[in-house]
Amino acid sequence: MSPEHQSPEHDNTQHDNTEHQSLRDLLRKARVRAEAPDFDPDEAPADPVGLFREWLTAAVDGGVPQPEAMTLATSSPTGDVTARTLLLKDLDDAFWFASSSLSPKGRQLNQNPRVALTFYWREQGRQVRVLGEASRGPRDVSAADFTARHPDSRAVAIAQRQSTPIDDAQDAEARLAEAKERIASDDEFTPDDWTAYRVAPTAIEFWQATTGRDQVRLRYDRTPDGWDRATLWP
Ligand SMILES: Cc1cc2nc3c(=O)[nH]c(=O)nc-3n(C[C@H](O)[C@H](O)[C@H](O)COP(=O)(O)O)c2cc1C
Repeated sequence: MSPEHQSPEHDNTQHDNTEHQSLRDLLRKARVRAEAPDFDPDEAPADPVGLFREWLTAAVDGGVPQPEAMTLATSSPTGDVTARTLLLKDLDDAFWFASSSLSPKGRQLNQNPRVALTFYWREQGRQVRVLGEASRGPRDVSAADFTARHPDSRAVAIAQRQSTPIDDAQDAEARLAEAKERIASDDEFTPDDWTAYRVAPTAIEFWQATTGRDQVRLRYDRTPDGWDRATLWP
């Protein structure tokens, strides 16, 4: 709370300043320099999806934990923005993820398919930002994604709509038990809302920390004939 909003008997300014100082000290200590692989934009391929594949492979080979985790930002037509972590499920000319089309993200995607994806591989000082348009993949891809999931997570996905409040714990338990039975009796069952989405990229930016304090940024923008490239000021 800022000092002007406090009554004199609740003047915590001194305390707040000390807290801020110690938090700043804490954050300063947290700055550990990443081991930066070499990245020369002049040597980068013409196709950014190929470069993404190289970086993802380097992240997997380099032991980056959960390198397939990415942040997906979506927005409504009125400009409300939300972001959450998801797993990258596949990569061809598009970035694939899977979720419920009835979830808040699914509903936003229905209204506004434009999205941003961000990967951060901190052990290698790398970030990749993707802009693009999401669309639903074929039904058989969604089904293959769903049936490959652990039976328990399939049961959770069909027991109740994603992101709805749990009002009654007993009811939730009963729904989950019913869902587990359903999955056990039909291993191929896929709910209609489970959807494999593909994000066709319109721009991809690669960000690399260097061993100094610099960063190298290379951005690709989709054109009718291919991709334009530009290095960006950090
Ligand atoms: C590492 C990680 C991976 C996740 N992967 C997925 C995923 O692949 N699909 C999914 O629907 N939710 C996934 N989640 C949960 C989402 O972050 C989110 O809580 C959920 O999809 C509901 O989002 P929404 O309310 O914005 O629709 C993951 C969460 C974490 C932390």
